[in-house]
Parts: sequence; structure tokens; C-alpha cells
Amino acid sequence: MSRKKNKIFEEVIRPELDKIHNEILKHPEITVADLYDAYKKSLESEDSRENIIFSAIGMIFFIVIAVPIVNYVFAFILGIRCFIPNNYVVWEATRPIANCAYCQHVRGPLILPNMTREEFLPYAYSPQPIIIKNSISHWPAGKLLNYNYLKNLYSKYKDDLNSFSDECQFLNFKSNFLILRDLFEMPPERAENGTEPWYVGFSNCQTKILNELRKLYPVPPHFLPADTEIPSHDYIFMGYDDGANMHLDYIPRLMWQAQLRGNKTWTLAPTPECSSICDQFTFYVESGDAVLIDTRIWYHGTSIKTKKQFSLTIQSEYG
Ligand SMILES: [Fe+2]
Repeated sequence: MSRKKNKIFEEVIRPELDKIHNEILKHPEITVADLYDAYKKSLESEDSRENIIFSAIGMIFFIVIAVPIVNYVFAFILGIRCFIPNNYVVWEATRPIANCAYCQHVRGPLILPNMTREEFLPYAYSPQPIIIKNSISHWPAGKLLNYNYLKNLYSKYKDDLNSFSDECQFLNFKSNFLILRDLFEMPPERAENGTEPWYVGFSNCQTKILNELRKLYPVPPHFLPADTEIPSHDYIFMGYDDGANMHLDYIPRLMWQAQLRGNKTWTLAPTPECSSICDQFTFYVESGDAVLIDTRIWYHGTSIKTKKQFSLTIQSEYG
């Protein structure tokens, strides 16, 4: 305290305070100890004022910094519907019990040669898995589509490679990529040689990208009925590693997949209620083949058995 303030306190304030204290102490029920306690409480209230200030700063920090972060995390978790459908358990619990006739005498896929639309019509909507050998090897996609083609295409047309909030699914399986940007920013030697295995699937639901890609392959393919219903997006699956674990697809139509590059091993199993009368089996799809599976009733998983061999497929639906 400065000398001037000290003087004011000693000569003006202290006598007044003493007067007040003396007046208060005239009340027999109030003691000096009570006055001391009251003084201590007044100091505590100073502390609580500080607490209020700190709390207010904390709340402002929470609103300005923490809320956007929490929001971002929630948006990301919602994006995980792309990796693990968050209503998968509900779907599984509520799906209709299968009629096991679909799998009862099936021991493997029906393997057909390439055929015309008319020739394939009797098989087109069969629940039996089908491989049509060497049916898509003439597609331009077989020659042109690869990792770098897709990287350039997405860099050109996709507004935001960081986005995980649009309706395009991104399935990262066991790879450490969370969004398309991660996929397209991996080191070239990993992308081209699988030095560290990776495998992803993603839908090309952006119209410009879909239109560009569909210039490289026909939808529907030449063996499917011309009037079959087709979806508004297709899927690309590519990489070097194990793909999806066994699962059912909760999609509205049948599935076809074109093996553009490499090979893929499929494992199919009946739904659990049919496991006593139907068999699980494994088969191999080679480059140039198309595979058709009703993935809504066949549990299916995929893997690429040949180490460091790149697999690239286009998948879509029909029905
Ligand atoms: Fe699937």
C-alpha cells in the first residue's frame, strides 16, 4: 500500500471501521470471534468470485473449442456407418428366416462360359452363385482402370477427399485408411506393390465420377437383361489383402462383380438356419470373370490369397 493510501486508511477508514465494530459489539450475542469469522467468509466470497470467473472462462472455452471437436468426433462416428453399418445388428435380428431351398443342393458356383443376354436369361435371377468365365475381359476398364487412374479421377472431380459425411461409403477393412484422401496419399511403392498390404472398397456415388467410370464398363453388363433395374452408384474394391469378413449385404437387389485385375477367393456360407442342410464352400474368380451372387442370402467373405498381387473389381447391383 502506498504511503498516501496508508495515511487515508489510518486516519479515515480505520476510525470509521472501529466505530462500526464497536457498535456491532454492543450486541451481547456478537463476539470478536464472530467478526473474525465474518471477515474470513468475506475473503472466501472473493475466492468464489474468482471461481465464477474461471468457470465462465471454462464455459467459453468449451463452447468455442470443445463443442466443435465433439461435433467433429460425432460426425466421424456417424461416418463409421461406412465401415460397420451401425444398424447391422438390427438388420440381422430382423431379417426374414430363409427358405433353405436356395442352398440345399448347392456345392459351389455354377460356372458358365461367356454368353449372350438371351442365353443367360434363365440363370439371371437364380439364387445359385454363378461365375461367367472370361466375360468382361474386353471392357476398357480392364485395361485402363487402376489405382493411378482412380487417383487422378477423384483428384479431378471429387470436391473434398477429406469428406466422410457424404453418402459415399468407404470400407477400409483391415487397412489403416479412414477416408479417400488416405487411400490416394499412400506412398507409391505401397500402392503399386502392396509393400504393406491394404484393401478398400468405396462407392462412386458422385455423378461426374460415376459417369466417367461407366464409360469404361457397361451397366448393365451385356449378359444381364436390358431392362433390369440398376443402382445410382457402383462400388470399387481393390487392394492386396483380406477383404470382407463373412457377412450378408442388406441391399435391395442382386449383386454382380467384375474381376478386372488379379484374382479373388470367395467363401460362401448359408444363413445359420440352413447350416444343417447346406454347405459352406470356397471358389476362385480370375481376371476377366464376372461373379453373380445373391449376397442378401449368402454369407460371403473375400480374400486375395496371392501375396502382393493387386486385385481390382467393379461391383454393382441388378434386379
Ligand atoms: Fe458384401
